[in-house]
Amino acid sequence: MMPHNNQLERNAYIENEWLRAEQAGLFSDAWCFVGTTRDLAKAGDYRVVQIGTFSILVVLDKSGNLNAFHNLCRHRGTTLVDEEKGNIGAAIVCPYHRWTYGLEGGLRGVPDKANCFPDLDRTKLSLKPAGLGVFKELIFANPDPTARFDEWIAPIADRAWPHDLFAADVKEAVPLTYDLKCNWKVFIENAIDGYHLAYLHENTLGGPTPDKNIWEQAGEHMIWYANEDGIRHRLPKKTRDENGSTGTIKSAAQTGYGGVYYLFPLTLVVPTPYGLSISSLKPLSPGRTRLDYRHWIGPWQSRDERKYIPGYDKQSDIISSDNWTKHPLETDDFQTEDVWICEKIQRGLSSPAFEPGPLSEGPGAEDPIRWFHESLNNRLRDGFT
Ligand code: FES
Ligand SMILES: [Fe+2]
Repeated sequence: MMPHNNQLERNAYIENEWLRAEQAGLFSDAWCFVGTTRDLAKAGDYRVVQIGTFSILVVLDKSGNLNAFHNLCRHRGTTLVDEEKGNIGAAIVCPYHRWTYGLEGGLRGVPDKANCFPDLDRTKLSLKPAGLGVFKELIFANPDPTARFDEWIAPIADRAWPHDLFAADVKEAVPLTYDLKCNWKVFIENAIDGYHLAYLHENTLGGPTPDKNIWEQAGEHMIWYANEDGIRHRLPKKTRDENGSTGTIKSAAQTGYGGVYYLFPLTLVVPTPYGLSISSLKPLSPGRTRLDYRHWIGPWQSRDERKYIPGYDKQSDIISSDNWTKHPLETDDFQTEDVWICEKIQRGLSSPAFEPGPLSEGPGAEDPIRWFHESLNNRLRDGFT
């Protein structure tokens, strides 16, 4: 089936074959957000992140270096660490036969080596390295150890970026996990769609209309800017200036940095004059995506908002549309409105009657979806030949 205007075909959102092609041709070389340098402050502190079918372990060693490895033992392949964060101590020990690795990845100990592996050369069985990069205290990993972080981040690195993301009085709020019943691309396409802001979000964001916001391409990434009118509804009554004193609100237009940074393929960073949020997507199946949401906020904001979030389930600590108790458009929460529409799109896509309709023109409308499809077509071309 030929896609309409080069748009992705319906199968891209519903077929396992597509997800497999993405795992092989996109996520195998994708930079994904792991955490911040503050998360990994003491030797042994680690984070594990799932990138497509890869599990990546990032750990701080005793010399203060961050190391990224594939999270599996070089003996028989047992995953080494199952928890997503913690402190691993002085070494990484496989629970199966207790092969032991240093925090820098070298194989240190093999039980009963003299009898069982007389010829084994430990230096050849270090943990498999993964790619690692740090940008403004944000740590990213890539399953491919040869991937060039500097090249990936370059188009963003020379753009204006809020300089005080981790100002002393910015604290992390309780992280949130969403269980989304949609393909990961549906969520991204909605996030970069400037056309819906004034309509779906009429009662929350209240705009901006396509002429009052703009997405700019930065390599495969994109940055969103809105003029003052466009985002005034999102700003709190008070915020702080660079000196930390409570002052007047600055819009993204005034501060010169973007309101949203989409870091291709799976990360959305949303800085504001008063904090920052990072959304990382984990595609689980064609119709299901986990969204990890971390946010840093000013001291006057509540650090734990979970009980106010529509669809939050205390037992599982997960946010899901299964638990909504009122209509999404009555929740006063634009994220809930977005989740609602993404899941509706996914249901529409599951009908064989679906075919892509025309996309609106303009960088404040649906051009970004065209750019996104172009990047995916470029990356995945080989997977379908
Ligand atoms: S699988 Fe890890 S020590 Fe055997
Ligand atoms: Fe939205």
